[in-house]
Amino acid sequence: MALHRAARLLREPGRVPAAIVRRILPRHPRLGFTWVHLADGSVTFREAGFVSASSPALLLARHNYETARIAALLAGRLFEASLEVGCGYGRLTPTFARCSRQHTAIDINPDALTQARATYPAYDFRPGSATEIPFPDDSFDLVCTWTVIQHVPPDRIAQACAELLRVLRPGGCLLLCEETAIPATTPARRHTWERSESEYGALLQPLRLADSGFIDEIDALPGMRSPGRVMLWVDDADGA
Ligand SMILES: C[S@@+](CC[C@H](N)C(=O)[O-])C[C@H]1O[C@@H](n2cnc3c(N)ncnc32)[C@H](O)[C@@H]1O
Repeated sequence: MALHRAARLLREPGRVPAAIVRRILPRHPRLGFTWVHLADGSVTFREAGFVSASSPALLLARHNYETARIAALLAGRLFEASLEVGCGYGRLTPTFARCSRQHTAIDINPDALTQARATYPAYDFRPGSATEIPFPDDSFDLVCTWTVIQHVPPDRIAQACAELLRVLRPGGCLLLCEETAIPATTPARRHTWERSESEYGALLQPLRLADSGFIDEIDALPGMRSPGRVMLWVDDADGA
């Protein structure tokens, strides 16, 4: 009976629950996990894993509510120089770039950067990591990361946050959207490290939290959750 069932599953692999297939073939490009651990332990994603939703309509709705929140938070501001850390394939780059005279986007994933350049040729995409940002101190008056820092493992989070602070000019703004809800159980194959708002507060001292909240419009969509808590941190030092 068991043999008969196994033979049937081999003939019709679509019947095997996705969660089981992923455990057996975690690295398979089509069947495995949508995230990938690079050689240094950083987490990046296959295209299907960057931003997910159960239908194109919900995916576009999520994107539209995210860009609307960014635009509302940065409304009326024109920054001199902005940096987007972990741009993926650049879907949010035009939204951030609209608020800035000079916008630069970095990511550790060369495939995503190739796609970002092809899709948005007008923008400046470069390789770079949050843990070693390839720019001098005080380079940007806006730094943004959107569901990126949550993928930095515990042994490197202090370094990543120190880097965000290092490149931020006095008086600048740091916009984060990160998972802050700590789950009751932790999956064995981890690719996200949720941190509370107060943990970010400690990591980002001396910045002050000027605005914080989930994207409720996304929470209201069937089967969807806000991608994380949107937090606007500001440096109260006088800008140059
Ligand atoms: C969930 S995706 C989000 C991409 C994009 N911000 C968006 O919302 O579409 C996370 C991105 O962070 C990038 N990433 C992960 N760790 C990083 C690091 N240490 N430095 C820069 N990018 C990183 C991944 O390669 C991936 O493109």
